[in-house]
Amino acid sequence: MYQTNYVLPSIIVVILFLILFRIPITISQERPPIPAVLVFGDSIVDPGNNNMLITPARANFPPYGRDFPGHEPTGRFSNGRIPPDIIVSLLRIKDLLPPYRAPDLENQELLTGVSFASAASGFDNLTATVPKVFSLWDQLEMYKEYKRKLIAIAGEAAADAIIRESAHAIFSGNNDILTTYFFTTIRQRTFDLPSYINYLVNAAGSFVNELYKLGARRIVVAGVPPLGCVPAARTVGGGENRDCVETYNQAATLFNLELSRSLEQLNVDLFGARIIYLNIYDTVMDLIQHGSDYGFEETTRGCCGTGELEASIFCNEFSPCTCPESETHKYLFWDGFHPTERAFRIIITALRSQFMRVL
Ligand SMILES: *[C@@H]1O[C@H](CO)[C@@H](O)[C@H](O)[C@H]1NC(C)=O
Repeated sequence: MYQTNYVLPSIIVVILFLILFRIPITISQERPPIPAVLVFGDSIVDPGNNNMLITPARANFPPYGRDFPGHEPTGRFSNGRIPPDIIVSLLRIKDLLPPYRAPDLENQELLTGVSFASAASGFDNLTATVPKVFSLWDQLEMYKEYKRKLIAIAGEAAADAIIRESAHAIFSGNNDILTTYFFTTIRQRTFDLPSYINYLVNAAGSFVNELYKLGARRIVVAGVPPLGCVPAARTVGGGENRDCVETYNQAATLFNLELSRSLEQLNVDLFGARIIYLNIYDTVMDLIQHGSDYGFEETTRGCCGTGELEASIFCNEFSPCTCPESETHKYLFWDGFHPTERAFRIIITALRSQFMRVL
């Protein structure tokens, strides 16, 4: 019984010992696991690279950004943050991922990552030609310029290490399938669906190869969501009930299947690379089918305008019947194509463990 008298002094001695010898009491959670995140793709991941372009594919005006810090319409295609922002903050790298083409980008931002993405682009060069935006291959040229800047700032060895250790994430293919193939039918003149999907998957493979040749080793490639269920697709092809369009969803599924197979092969072929496929489709489909489990009351219409078709310049402050601010959280989609920030957060959080496999 007398032993209890020693308990408190013993604890004090142990704590003093830990402090004196600077033994960390908790494992530090502060250090980010990778130095930077570098992003390529379309409007899902474009924080404003199109702002200075003469293109309809922009979002730097209200009501875009309605729930962004300072209610600022930055060019992000949502009411608030978009996936690259959510990813870098989950990785504790920084709060927001800026566009590479921001006019006054600081060196610190280059060291911790940027997005080269351009809304309305795709794996197919033709997709970016019509709206006059940056194709994925233009984005690759920007990435080469970025690498030169990185070397100038950090020196060759440190720049190489940043490129080698950072996650490179590609979110593309949505506009190729939905716009270039189905909506405008441009590519239907030269391809049937399986051969167009093959063309896109080959382009994705060459893109990953190019990144690898430039020193990238950690590469995440996202599949596409159920494209037939975005509000605009329901309006265009879903009939009177605005159902999900099965042909678009089947195309998305086929693309994802071939893409994931091709990435698996690249993972074997490219020595020292870690290439991860991100299954967006199932996560988004779950939200669409079980929206109410996540507190969404409206999953077939966007908040902006009628919510049935409008996006970019067609979703503006004069759009009639945009949902009130107090109800944005009930919407899965912000406009005819793009999820709300709350939906993006749920999607990225659900995909977190898949993404982390690249580390
Ligand atoms: C797109 O254009 C670039 C530059 O002109 C070219 O290198 C690339 O191979 C093209 N990609 C496809 C998929 O045609």
